[in-house]
Amino acid sequence: MMMSDGVAVADVFDALAAAAPEIRAGFAGRAGETDDHNATGDRQLHADIHADEILRDRVGALDAVGEYASEEAEHVRDVGAGPLSVSVDPLDGSSNLSANNPTGTILGVYDAPLPASGRDLVAAAYVLYGPLTTMVTATADGVTRYTIASDGRRTDESVSLPDDPTVYGFGGRVPDWTVDFTDYARAIKDELKLRYSGAMVADVNQVLTYGGVFAYPGLRDRPRGKLRTQFEAIPMAYIVEAAGGSSTNGAHSVLDADPDDLHSRTPIYLGNDALIDRAERALD
Ligand code: AHG
Ligand code: MN
Ligand code: MN
Ligand code: MN
Repeated sequence: MMMSDGVAVADVFDALAAAAPEIRAGFAGRAGETDDHNATGDRQLHADIHADEILRDRVGALDAVGEYASEEAEHVRDVGAGPLSVSVDPLDGSSNLSANNPTGTILGVYDAPLPASGRDLVAAAYVLYGPLTTMVTATADGVTRYTIASDGRRTDESVSLPDDPTVYGFGGRVPDWTVDFTDYARAIKDELKLRYSGAMVADVNQVLTYGGVFAYPGLRDRPRGKLRTQFEAIPMAYIVEAAGGSSTNGAHSVLDADPDDLHSRTPIYLGNDALIDRAERALD
């Protein structure tokens, strides 16, 4: 029987919600580095690998899922005959563990083989490991935030981007910013409050909570910036746009990205429409 995407997506979200307490329980003692690097050159932490193993087992076991791709693995993994492909950043902001700062998990659900365009996304979600463990899910029907108790019980509320922006968070070192981005940042910092943690999930969650803009721009020596198109930018752009905001890579919506390299990077700006429009004009 062909599952409808809706039922299959709900199964993926349930698997993520069930994995979250197990991932969080595994943080203790796993902030250290392994001897290995991932495909984008990050040194892998034990917690990166542990989270990836948990997600691969749980998500990969679902009948609806045929492909599983991870920021921590070179190649897409065939996990069955299901119609859906899942991308994960198993632990986002993992370097924050050593400072006991927030981290997250980012997940995308595509109805096409990976690498895939943002227009092939049918759903996306993130988990934020903060004082609470919360999961934010997005589908064509809207955005929902769940608080995941240790016994798995969940309460939910709908999420929409506040109209009035309050916070901003910009990645990269100021000397590495381009002239155009520096001009944009100079204006924004006089209008909004700086909130930057070094974990994309936590920083974008603040934008969704308070309104504002998150960016990891293209840099002088790295014009594509740092963040991964498939694993971070596309799913987070889907969530912010579904919540009523906008995204850009400097020229167009991040969802129009169509990566041919599974591990490509892209500049990314997420937040209130007016702030994203200003970014595109500044970078034009
Ligand atoms: P990851 O831990 O999955 O590699 O992601 C880290 C990313 C992202 O979470 C964050 O926005 C960015 O790295 C922070 O980079 P800087 O340390 O250069 O600010
Ligand atoms: Mn990493
Ligand atoms: Mn990440
Ligand atoms: Mn990661």
